[in-house]
Amino acid sequence: RGKSLDPLGGTRFQPGALVSVRQQEPLGLGHAVWCARDIVGDEPFAVLLADDLMVGEPGCLRRMVDAYDRVGGNLICAQEVRDDQAHMYGVITPGSRDGALTEVRGLVEKPAPGTAPSNLAVIGRYILQPEVMRVLEGQGKGAGGEVQLTDAMAAMIGDQPFHGLTFAGTRYDCGDK
Ligand code: G1P
Repeated sequence: RGKSLDPLGGTRFQPGALVSVRQQEPLGLGHAVWCARDIVGDEPFAVLLADDLMVGEPGCLRRMVDAYDRVGGNLICAQEVRDDQAHMYGVITPGSRDGALTEVRGLVEKPAPGTAPSNLAVIGRYILQPEVMRVLEGQGKGAGGEVQLTDAMAAMIGDQPFHGLTFAGTRYDCGDK
């Protein structure tokens, strides 16, 4: 953004700087994101889960940024998955559709088999509002005993727009041969 941040008491991050934060304990994706709160500061930010490799042109995050410029709020990448695989993902309760954009009315992390609200799953690309850090701050453990990013996003439904963008390209799950 060409703007330097000062969240760490005088440390200046120049555009393009790479800063790393280590999650000291494996407490869940929501906790991992929360660990970066001082670096993110008070701006919208993107989360890219490196084990979801997205291939397409234009790229997934490029398309998400373009959509975000129209709708704002929280935005996730969404893809249809097989019914028998929905329990491995965050799953959306879909609202109205506008092309590749689907309104997110509800969200559940790893629903028990046969209980998923749809087969539209959250894929590991997110554009989030900084308020999510405040939600994560007071959040308990969710599915799998972990602090879930999905639960924080679900808690923000109604406070701001929330959409899923269906990505037409290919996803490779690096955890799956
Ligand atoms: C994470 C998220 C889940 C999402 C998935 C996408 O789960 O918690 O909502 O659907 O990434 O890959 P994980 O794969 O870390 O269990």
